[in-house]
Amino acid sequence: MNSRHVLLISYPAQGHINPSLRFAQRLIHIGIDVTFATTVNVRRRMAKASSGDAPKGLTFATFSDGYDDGFKPSDDGKRYMSELKKSSSRTLKDIIVASSEQGRPVTCLVYTVLLPWAAEVAREVHVPCALLWIQPATVLVVYYYYFKGFEDEIKANSDNPSWKIQFPGLPYNFSKSDLPSFILPESAESYGFVLPSFKEQIEALDLETKPKVLVNNFDVLEPDALKSIENYVFIGIGPLIPPAFLTDGQVLLSDKSFGGDLFQKSDDYIEWLNSNPDSSVVYVSFGSLLNLPKSQMEEIAEGLLDSKKPFLWVIRANQDENEEDEKLSCMEELENLGKIVPWCSQLEVLTHKSLGCFITHCGWNSTLESLSCGVPMVAFPQWSDQGTNAKLIVDAWKVGVRVKVNENGVVESDEIRSCIEKVMGDGENGRELRENARKWKSLAREAMEEEGSSNKNLKAFLQEMGC
Ligand code: UDX
Repeated sequence: MNSRHVLLISYPAQGHINPSLRFAQRLIHIGIDVTFATTVNVRRRMAKASSGDAPKGLTFATFSDGYDDGFKPSDDGKRYMSELKKSSSRTLKDIIVASSEQGRPVTCLVYTVLLPWAAEVAREVHVPCALLWIQPATVLVVYYYYFKGFEDEIKANSDNPSWKIQFPGLPYNFSKSDLPSFILPESAESYGFVLPSFKEQIEALDLETKPKVLVNNFDVLEPDALKSIENYVFIGIGPLIPPAFLTDGQVLLSDKSFGGDLFQKSDDYIEWLNSNPDSSVVYVSFGSLLNLPKSQMEEIAEGLLDSKKPFLWVIRANQDENEEDEKLSCMEELENLGKIVPWCSQLEVLTHKSLGCFITHCGWNSTLESLSCGVPMVAFPQWSDQGTNAKLIVDAWKVGVRVKVNENGVVESDEIRSCIEKVMGDGENGRELRENARKWKSLAREAMEEEGSSNKNLKAFLQEMGC
């Protein structure tokens, strides 16, 4: 029986589940058993949408968060967080006790963003624990300093368009649109329930001496951020991407790791990508949560048509059954030039040789996946960490351009077309972006090699934790 057993819990959203399951796969590869605790709703959706069996060594433990039919945007976020805390804390404790009774005790508890109470459970039952931070280290650093004295300055200045702020240890000036949206005063009305969770997270880490924070990045990606909080031990262990997608050449179906998709894929887009020339396709996706307003979708559609480049555009069905999906006005022209799908295997797309550019909302997974596949980006951030991620894409790694938003908060079609041209065109800018993208692809892959920094960091962490 395996004596090394990690209990892993992630917030029940695709952007959190993906890096968590990929982390689980890495642990299993090293020879560690993993129990992945998740909600009834996630487990059901995974079973419906994902093909392939869970790898040997991975067990699922499901619990009800009181929203077995899924959390809807119209539901009360504060109440949801409180239910999630109650049910997941109980489940974590039960799993730890039961595993111990069965002779396969949990040797480490790993939890992701928005679940700070997991650290409390670990302390109560005397199991070592670590936070798996699934956004860039820079974002955690900004939250940290927000709660350590920068809150007033941000609140007082965020209406001033020329205002910039610098945080200790970070080499950039941040303007308002570069900051995580949840720390901005205007976020309070709709997402006021999120910030207290980050606060609780920082407080939980404060209770530990030199808390270990596993980060889905790699050492050379954010060298300053990884060192900028003296009390934390940041450990770069990414990019968390299945190994099959980190080697060049054809990705064999049998090599693809268990997906954990929550949405059903379309099945003919690879054939369509195959029919397009190398580096010609614009891939457009806004991740697993966002539904853009119809007016913005129309601008994107027009921008894509004007660019005259083939495109693959993921438009998810509206998750709220009460809301009808609105049809775009130029559907026929769009279908002549490109392909629209409800969901795809993004890594299969980003590793396809026809890919030329990714118009992305800059979710951290999409950002890191694009970077690791060498695909330059048009950054089109919306909320949460995405503005900060866009800042890193443009200013730190120089692998993309960022769209400009007009005074009504809309990105116009001309701007979209012009950004596509900058990234894919023959100008100096485009050549430089593509060259940088190739450089980061190779650095990302190096980090995950047997002797790479992320692999070595993970092994050292596990050894130190006695796991
Ligand atoms: C959320 C937040 O919005 C994001 O800002 C944060 O960094 C992580 O959590 P999400 O919006 O879903 O995530 O974006 P992202 O982080 O990019 O994750 C989406 C995941 O879904 C990626 O791993 C991507 O590969 C996958 N995906 C997306 C698909 O497999 N197919 C698709 O069609 C679209």
